[in-house]
Amino acid sequence: MKALEGKVALITGAGGGIGTAAALAFARGGARLHLLDAEEEGADRAAAAVREVGGEASTAVADVSDHAAVADAVGAVVEAHGRLDCAFNNAGISGPLREFLDYPDEDMQRVLSVNLVGVWNCMQEELRAMVGAGAGAIVNSSSGLGVVASPSMSAYVASKHAVMGLTQAAALEYASKGVRVNAVLPGVIDTAMPARLTEDSPDTRRLMLAAHPMGRLGKAEEVAAAAVWLCSDAASFVTGHGMAIDGGYLSQ
Ligand SMILES: NC(=O)c1ccc[n+]([C@@H]2O[C@H](COP(=O)([O-])OP(=O)(O)OC[C@H]3O[C@@H](n4cnc5c(N)ncnc54)[C@H](O)[C@@H]3O)[C@@H](O)[C@H]2O)c1
Repeated sequence: MKALEGKVALITGAGGGIGTAAALAFARGGARLHLLDAEEEGADRAAAAVREVGGEASTAVADVSDHAAVADAVGAVVEAHGRLDCAFNNAGISGPLREFLDYPDEDMQRVLSVNLVGVWNCMQEELRAMVGAGAGAIVNSSSGLGVVASPSMSAYVASKHAVMGLTQAAALEYASKGVRVNAVLPGVIDTAMPARLTEDSPDTRRLMLAAHPMGRLGKAEEVAAAAVWLCSDAASFVTGHGMAIDGGYLSQ
């Protein structure tokens, strides 16, 4: 029996590094997928990759900060499959690397809209479907920076701490209703996100590497495996948990 056999799963930010790895891991685990991304090309590419490994995937193009668009996407899954079993709320942006006093207001607003309001929107629609059915599992993408801070990323740090708070608040409210809510706390994972942040700064990349006791960045597949486990029935007594996938970063 595969870990997610027969389950219907929604993954947001599916066109990105961790999202596409998760789409493949969920498909290999037996889930039928609905892949959401703001970029149509990314969602289509992830769906094609899923079909290549024999999986089933439909797509939605939506900005998670747009509640109506998220409601449409979740509604489409429930209409097509009759239910939603799992969700990985993974869409997120880093914002720029900038000291607090120089942080542009519009960047702060955008980071909070996508990373915090976006997860809120997704959770509300997913919980509506799952609580109604009396079962479900949600995994939110927080970060190591959801429990500690790092300089020059104040809006990102605030948004990811908030995701951890939302995770625990919803976990408490729905623990007795069959729905589990957890979060992943990745260290720096080798995707386009840190690559964009460090393209002009080899020093920052060196510091990122040095911050991980294992001496390397994480792989998207390592986060994907944790999301699959947290969504699976193997994690049936796990809720409100932030799981570090960070090569020891948070243990320092
Ligand atoms: N890569 C890391 O080092 C790292 C570390 C900790 C946490 N995370 C978190 O993991 C998640 C995925 O990161 P990644 O490294 O795969 O990044 P990525 O940039 O490779 O992928 C992000 C994906 O999200 C999509 N997206 C962005 N804004 C969106 C929006 N408003 N609505 C819908 N989709 C949107 C993008 O189009 C992209 O496909 C993010 O939430 C990120 O904060 C990443």
